[in-house]
Amino acid sequence: MSEPKSTSPALPGAATTPGDVATLRAPPRHVAIIMDGNGRWAKARGLPRALGHKEGVEALRRAVEASRELGLTHLSVYAFSTENWNRPPAEIDALFDLLRMFVRRDLARLHRDGVCIRIIGSREGLSEEILGLIDEAMERTRDNTRLTLNIAFNYGGRGEIVSAMQAIARDVEAGRLKASDVNEALVSSTLWTAESPDPDLVIRTSGELRLSNFLLWSGAYAELMFMDIWWPDFTRESLEKAIDAFRRRDRRFGGLSA
Ligand code: IPE
Ligand code: IPE
Ligand code: MG
Repeated sequence: MSEPKSTSPALPGAATTPGDVATLRAPPRHVAIIMDGNGRWAKARGLPRALGHKEGVEALRRAVEASRELGLTHLSVYAFSTENWNRPPAEIDALFDLLRMFVRRDLARLHRDGVCIRIIGSREGLSEEILGLIDEAMERTRDNTRLTLNIAFNYGGRGEIVSAMQAIARDVEAGRLKASDVNEALVSSTLWTAESPDPDLVIRTSGELRLSNFLLWSGAYAELMFMDIWWPDFTRESLEKAIDAFRRRDRRFGGLSA
């Protein structure tokens, strides 16, 4: 785990290193993860990329288990972006197969463990069969309250905002809403992520320093954490370290330190 690398010397008063904040802040309730680096994990071992994705599912199972045990209320994971359609068809097929397998194999256990599954993203371009699986997983687990697992699949942050804008525009067009009724709360409640609080912490593995179109609206004030490990190497300890670092951050929301 590493904090974002910086070439400038530590600034006095910038609470980004352990020890800067005397009292630990409350742990995050909602952690979101950009699960990146499966391909490079496989390449480093001379394995096909699909095996990296398969190991990535193991890491996801660990992350869900750890999130439950560590008391998070929400875990959101980026599994397939709308931009991932740019990959070769064989890789896309492998990723869809893994979603199928994850739902088929893990649904009963997740349900027993009190996990509420929400699959967030566009339904466009998905087959009836995949849509059926998604609906089944969400329907079966909808009343569970221990942990909400948002799986961002066929998800793009801009697409999410556009889809909310279209829904709101339809209501304005039909006379159900006035333009002046449109505010941040209304937009938030129209997004695919409407049922979850905003993420407190967004983690990206693999060392890349970008959001790649993830949670652009709801992550507006999330703490960002970039970890120099491939996603298949993510463990419970990785999550614990990220949470610990989060608790030492100074979140000001534009105000001043307490
Ligand atoms: C993340 O791993 C999984 C998805 C994007 C679906 P990648 O497949 O992006 O792995 P790298 O980044 O090429 O190593
Ligand atoms: C982001 O990873 C999407 C997911 C983890 C599902 P990518 O590997 O697709 O992102 P880029 O291409 O590095 O921006
Ligand atoms: Mg990647």
